[in-house]
Amino acid sequence: MNHQIRLKSRPAGMPSADNFEAADAPMPTVREGEVLRRTRYLSLDPYMRGRMSDGPSYAAPVNVGDVMCGHTVSEVVESRHAAFTPGDIVAGYDGWQQFAAGPARDVRKLDTTGLPPSTAIGVLGMPGFTAYVGLYDIGQPKSGETVVVSAASGAVGSIVGQLAKIKGCRVVGVAGSSEKCAYVVDTLGFDACVNYKTGDLMTALKDACPSGIDIYFENVGGAVLAAALNALNRGARIPLCGMISQYNATEDPGGPNLRSLLVNRAMIKGFIVSDHYDRFPAFLAEVTPLVRDGRIKFREDIVDGLDAAPAALIGLFEGRNFGKMLVRVSDSGR
Ligand SMILES: NC(=O)c1ccc[n+]([C@@H]2O[C@H](COP(=O)([O-])OP(=O)(O)OC[C@H]3O[C@@H](n4cnc5c(N)ncnc54)[C@H](OP(=O)(O)O)[C@@H]3O)[C@@H](O)[C@H]2O)c1
Repeated sequence: MNHQIRLKSRPAGMPSADNFEAADAPMPTVREGEVLRRTRYLSLDPYMRGRMSDGPSYAAPVNVGDVMCGHTVSEVVESRHAAFTPGDIVAGYDGWQQFAAGPARDVRKLDTTGLPPSTAIGVLGMPGFTAYVGLYDIGQPKSGETVVVSAASGAVGSIVGQLAKIKGCRVVGVAGSSEKCAYVVDTLGFDACVNYKTGDLMTALKDACPSGIDIYFENVGGAVLAAALNALNRGARIPLCGMISQYNATEDPGGPNLRSLLVNRAMIKGFIVSDHYDRFPAFLAEVTPLVRDGRIKFREDIVDGLDAAPAALIGLFEGRNFGKMLVRVSDSGR
């Protein structure tokens, strides 16, 4: 049987476990030109909240009753395509299920030498690529500039800061606990990190950025954005990547609706990573060696089993994850 987690109902506000249902489907069948794969890792990402709603967005929602979507790392178990053999490790978009079958073109064979395969959906996957596109294309960091990034210990923010450090910038993170801030400074090598949940955020951010902010990489919105706007330098750039503090809002948060800038790819400047995949090979060529030799560090937060996915997804909106949120769907030995 193929164990799956499906969308049962659309949430109002914060999702709950009741919005999901577990089900066992028959094993998918494999046609000519297709591969059958068993999911090893499933990525959980904030954008999934948008797919649970049917409001206007840049991507179609998951239909109620359908398997939840998501990036996956899988092992080929049966191949009817000449380029794949059982045992190959592939990246795809197979969603919250144990098995998937489909055209070979839907998966990318991975070279996992020296790296955990799960990196293909984290630091060397969509989140890392998002950091690369937003920081380089919109931020355009120059040596000596000050870069501030919110959700700094997370999948995207942690890579933004490390890439900016490599470019010679002063890098300041903003994160939601003293433990996360310590990790951001001590392990990732940021120059400073401000805990936005304690003290006077405006003052703390200004103190951490004595020369002002040249680039604010926006992941959260709300009070953190307000504090960053207050310390901008002339000519500052704001890659508008995400506004997680608003994803579960049931009322208009007030002020200018900057989320509209995000989904409309407008200036400040909003961007959506899926528009930029032509540059994914360039990203992999530049960043894979940095990860391999340890110049870019990454942290994964892994839960076991598909049935743990709903709670882990909800945890993203409460800051319960510490690093790239992943589900280990099956072990390599099975
Ligand atoms: N534009 C694109 O194409 C694109 C692509 C990928 C991701 N994104 C966006 O990038 C952002 C980061 O995603 P990620 O995958 O790297 O997630 P992540 O940072 O690994 O996890 C989410 C983190 O957001 C923080 N957070 C949650 N609720 C918050 C709130 N109300 N206020 C402030 N911070 C809050 C929490 O960290 P703390 O404990 O530090 O608060 C939480 O750990 C999200 O906004 C996501 O939507 C955009």
